Amino acid sequence: MVKITFIQPDGSQVSVDAKVGGTVMEAAVNNMVKGIDADCGGACACATCHVYISDEWKSKLQAPETMESDMLEYAHEPDESSRLSCQVRVTNEMEGLVVRVPSQQS
Ligand code: FES
Repeated sequence: MVKITFIQPDGSQVSVDAKVGGTVMEAAVNNMVKGIDADCGGACACATCHVYISDEWKSKLQAPETMESDMLEYAHEPDESSRLSCQVRVTNEMEGLVVRVPSQQS
């Protein structure tokens, strides 16, 4: 398990235990983190698991595949730090990861 902190748009934070090998989306949903809808259940087909992950963590994450990048176009206000949390697999190197939840999902 590694700790992941989710920051809501109002600044409130919640830290959860995430299973290594699972996804950031699963960690959010399993811990009832607000704002991660994950309507498609992780199939990279809805963009409602959109989150922002800062540059400092990028080197510890696998790069997005084309399918994720394409689907991010449907996310609400995507930017350079946008990821679909169902496509970000949790690794031991991600201990302490900080993830921002968008103000709304698409
Ligand atoms: Fe649907 Fe991530 S849960 S794209």
